[in-house]
Amino acid sequence: MKTLREKYGEWALVTGASAGIGEAFARYLARAGMDVILVARRRERLEALAAHLTQQHGVQALAVPLDLTDAHFMEALTERVGDREVGVLVNNAGYGSTGRFLERDPAGEADMVRVNCWAPVALTHHFVRPMVARRKGAILFLSSVVAYQPTPFMTTYAATKAFNLFLGEGLWYELRKYHIDVLALSPGTTATEFHQVAHMARGPVVASPERVVETAMRALGRKPSVVDGTINRLLAFAHRLLPRRTTLSLAGRIIGLFHAR
Ligand SMILES: NC(=O)c1ccc[n+]([C@@H]2O[C@H](COP(=O)([O-])OP(=O)(O)OC[C@H]3O[C@@H](n4cnc5c(N)ncnc54)[C@H](OP(=O)(O)O)[C@@H]3O)[C@@H](O)[C@H]2O)c1
Repeated sequence: MKTLREKYGEWALVTGASAGIGEAFARYLARAGMDVILVARRRERLEALAAHLTQQHGVQALAVPLDLTDAHFMEALTERVGDREVGVLVNNAGYGSTGRFLERDPAGEADMVRVNCWAPVALTHHFVRPMVARRKGAILFLSSVVAYQPTPFMTTYAATKAFNLFLGEGLWYELRKYHIDVLALSPGTTATEFHQVAHMARGPVVASPERVVETAMRALGRKPSVVDGTINRLLAFAHRLLPRRTTLSLAGRIIGLFHAR
């Protein structure tokens, strides 16, 4: 069987590699023998992880500290990446916000849309072209279980995750003729810094970031999208059976109890 490096190319670029699911992706890919480019804002964390992965797995690891809300992040990133062959792109960086839409700061919401939606589009446009020329590559998008139904009081965040689900699924179809594997990954509640950043309570069923990554890597190349965890899969499926207005009202009542007092 081919290694990931043989199948997709030498380097994997992971955004949001300083914590949580992104860090778990970086560890998985380095363990599998891929050189890794680590992107996020926190320089010390990226540099410590890069040094650890090189020492542990003998791979090259490049830390690229940058802010994905910066209008010029692509110029800074492409300059650092140079002509390295990026074969796997993990569009993972993202965060959430909760509360009434009317009370959210529009500038903060715009930043979230930049990180969660615009950055994956810009990165994919840039790195997909050489993948198409090589007729190989893999691109992952971080969606969420909240992408499977409108989610009041996390409205903008849930919409960004629906965007990633549709982006990943649409590109799966468009890019398969070039032998590029695309996957939209939807975790449920996962034990990362996400809930602290979003001021959100964690749900009752919590997955580890390592399990979420295993789920993704098993599904990559086999299907356009995957939901992590049996209960999350059932929930995502159940939303298709009930009238949309019913699931929306239920979600609004339950989430409103916690986030819109
Ligand atoms: N945890 C969950 O329950 C859950 C469930 C469903 C989906 N997800 C999705 O999973 C993805 C990863 O989240 P996580 O759970 O691993 O959360 P996390 O532990 O908070 O990690 C988020 C990562 O994104 C990076 N990031 C945030 N803002 C950034 C910016 N402006 N520029 C560059 N990097 C930025 C953070 O790095 P710096 O702070 O160092 O910049 C960090 O590395 C997100 O897209 C999230 O929507 C998470």
